[in-house]
Amino acid sequence: MKRLTLAGTAAQMTDISMQDLIIRRPDDWHLHLRDGDMLEAVLPYSSAHFSRAIIMPNLVPPVTDCASANAYRARIEKALPKGHDFTPLMTLYLTETTDADDVVAGFESGVIRAVKLYPAGATTNSQSGVRDMEKVYPVLERMAQAGVPLCVHGEVTDPDVDIFDREAVFIERVLEPTRRRFPTLRIVMEHITTQEGVAYVRDGAEGIGGTITTHHLIINRNAILVGGIRPHYYCLPIAKRESHRLALREAATSGNARFFLGTDSAPHLDPAKESACGCAGVFSSINTMACLAHVFEQEDALDQLEAFASLNGPGFYRLPVNENTMRLTRRETPVNLPDKIETKSGAVTVFDPMFPIYWDVDAKA
Ligand code: DOR
Ligand code: ZN
Repeated sequence: MKRLTLAGTAAQMTDISMQDLIIRRPDDWHLHLRDGDMLEAVLPYSSAHFSRAIIMPNLVPPVTDCASANAYRARIEKALPKGHDFTPLMTLYLTETTDADDVVAGFESGVIRAVKLYPAGATTNSQSGVRDMEKVYPVLERMAQAGVPLCVHGEVTDPDVDIFDREAVFIERVLEPTRRRFPTLRIVMEHITTQEGVAYVRDGAEGIGGTITTHHLIINRNAILVGGIRPHYYCLPIAKRESHRLALREAATSGNARFFLGTDSAPHLDPAKESACGCAGVFSSINTMACLAHVFEQEDALDQLEAFASLNGPGFYRLPVNENTMRLTRRETPVNLPDKIETKSGAVTVFDPMFPIYWDVDAKA
């Protein structure tokens, strides 16, 4: 079997037709773990493959202060299967009444790693988010001074703006003005879905990073809308037209240190998705690494998978890279992955990439 070993920063490319790929263990820089039965059901899939994850705070009620972040982290740690080595990196949900002292103290003591900006009404459980950016300027100023990263859900909520344009308009109306006002603020533009998002992260000022999801590298908006409405492909930001997907692929496989993996794996029970008003979210933690190997192989860029999934994220967050490794093996025949997982409250459909997956993941390589 041909082998490509990438563990370490200098990738050794031995043979392009390799079937066995070893990379440093990856991290997930944007993950929804939820709580209760859902947390218990989905956490083992993340902790089986990933060493760390940035945990989204959009619970009900949201995680808005360090005391709640600590309590949530304890619930995650309690739900962790024995033998899994996984560190949740907690975030705070930014509101117009967020206490800057709590943010800075929490960051400096390691309780939280970032603060999340949800424009109010932009997505799932974002009602408590920010309506008026000026109200959070004092907190952003303190975050900029202390080096606390701001993770951004980058969509405007203006009803006059078409849903497919909401990311591009956000960059112009909100993100760039905020960055100019706080030039030292470290910003992660999360789950970018457009050429504009790619260009902003790639060409923008220092201190800007961007996460890309697995599903946005694989589907375009046709997956949601052609041949019937397919609610399991509905997420926010919504998948855009093909040219945008191609730009995302280019960015993810380029090796550029500003782009890194954030799965945005966001489980909802099937009845909540398969509804007249279905929830946004794609559950992908279980097959993300196998799907990514497929995508990077298609792009002839397997040698860049480690940068995207395991090196660039820690670089942005100023954390050490993981020491242990993961083996991805390309099989001759497709591997079996479940279509759904069960929780105590019902089933959750797994992201279907619409192609057979040939990559097997051995996280204990
Ligand atoms: O599709 C999404 N689902 N996008 C988000 O921003 C939130 C997430 C969720 O929490 O379900
Ligand atoms: Zn998300």
